[in-house]
Amino acid sequence: MVRVLIVFVLAVGCGNPASGSADGPTVFRQICSSCHGDAGKPPEAMVARLAVRDLTAKEFRDRATPALVEAQVRNGSKNKLMPAFVGALTDDQIKAVSAYVASPTFPQSR
Ligand code: HEC
Repeated sequence: MVRVLIVFVLAVGCGNPASGSADGPTVFRQICSSCHGDAGKPPEAMVARLAVRDLTAKEFRDRATPALVEAQVRNGSKNKLMPAFVGALTDDQIKAVSAYVASPTFPQSR
């Protein structure tokens, strides 16, 4: 599990993986989907390995706000299983992806 995280953090650390796009759905697919799944529902393996949260769960949808998501993306999770994205993503990218995840239109089909 630790190795998976280190590989991930290195990948994020190299250059700008979202290619500068500040489009919420694009940032989500490029950065968040590796753990959370394309449509916010994490693959079983990610749940088993990292206890990734299901962003489509009613329990989460009911309390999701842009501020909550932004805090999570900026700081990562308390248990460090989700990394902090400050420095890896620009402020615009963080705001766009947070607004998208908290919006009623999440997840958008492609
Ligand atoms: C390395 C895997 C990984 C990546 C990449 C990742 N997350 Fe997470 N995420 C997690 C894990 C693990 C948790 C659960 C952490 C916990 O239990 O506190 C989590 C939790 C969350 C939560 C909290 C849900 C709740 O129930 O409060 C939000 C919101 C979230 N992630 C959004 C994002 C967004 C947006 C991105 C992309 C910028 C992202 N995550 C990228 C692993 C990841």
